[in-house]
Amino acid sequence: MATTVVTGATGRVGRRVVDGLLRAGAEVRAVTRDPGAAGLPDGARVVAGDPGRPETLAAALEGADAAYLFPVSDTAAAGFARLASAAGVGRIVVLSSVSAGGAEGDHSGDHHRAVERAVEASGVTWTHVRPGEFMANVLDWWAAPIRDEGVVREPFPRALHQPVHEDDIADVAVAALLEDGHAGAAYALLGPEVLTTADQVRLIGAALGRDIRFEELTREQARRRYVEHGVPPEVADWLLAVEELPEGTAVPPATGPTAEAVTGRPARTFAQWAADHAGDFR
Ligand SMILES: NC(=O)c1ccc[n+]([C@@H]2O[C@H](COP(=O)([O-])OP(=O)(O)OC[C@H]3O[C@@H](n4cnc5c(N)ncnc54)[C@H](OP(=O)(O)O)[C@@H]3O)[C@@H](O)[C@H]2O)c1
Repeated sequence: MATTVVTGATGRVGRRVVDGLLRAGAEVRAVTRDPGAAGLPDGARVVAGDPGRPETLAAALEGADAAYLFPVSDTAAAGFARLASAAGVGRIVVLSSVSAGGAEGDHSGDHHRAVERAVEASGVTWTHVRPGEFMANVLDWWAAPIRDEGVVREPFPRALHQPVHEDDIADVAVAALLEDGHAGAAYALLGPEVLTTADQVRLIGAALGRDIRFEELTREQARRRYVEHGVPPEVADWLLAVEELPEGTAVPPATGPTAEAVTGRPARTFAQWAADHAGDFR
């Protein structure tokens, strides 16, 4: 069975890539900077390394068939891909972003596109997995206030989202790592539904069997919260601008590309995600 290297193995997607590969019977070398704290499954071989310093991964890549690359800098990605090529790795699957396929003049995906290009330049067969907004992002801002106070505080209750379940991202990555037929593909992955912020709160409440209050923040309060949590001011402004679209403009398509095109299974809904993560909100 295939031997696969997974960088970012302790991540929201990476852990599920490790699980999916093990379920499929692959041999997994799971890379982490801190093996002692990684909490990776017994079936994986845990390897100390830092994808930001690819030279630390040379031994892990030796004799591997395929590798999953968590997006570090483009320079590190180029170093990783060169080492993978020298080690005879047959394919690299890049965790990228839907923003990498953005329109001309949209620079939000520049970092991810640079990582993709660095891997493409290595000559190793590649597949790019390009998710949109993760469903799991709401854990960062909502899990603690829902647990402690039964409330979500956000600025734009009618902002539109098409978030994707991390299991769907991982399923596509695992398919590309293990199956033929994905060489040179860039898979944009969105969720199967367009939901408002308020819809997401309601669906988490339904999974928990309790009502969750929504407290609307002003734009300024939301900006301050981002900055207090270490988000650079220009990134905070960008995040707010994405959500603050005037009513009725730039509505995302009713349906976008989902994991189903690759896996053949319907993409997971937000209700499913909320049920999977109910324990995080209790
Ligand atoms: N969130 C979104 O909505 C979204 C949308 C599209 C694309 N993305 C892409 O997906 C990525 C997140 O994926 P994820 O949630 O699976 O990963 P994650 O949880 O952010 O991180 C994965 C693991 O990589 C290691 N790591 C993190 N930062 C690192 C760094 N600077 N240098 C070296 N190692 C680092 C850490 O492992 P150890 O500490 O164990 O080494 C971490 O647990 C984002 O960075 C972004 O590029 C995100």
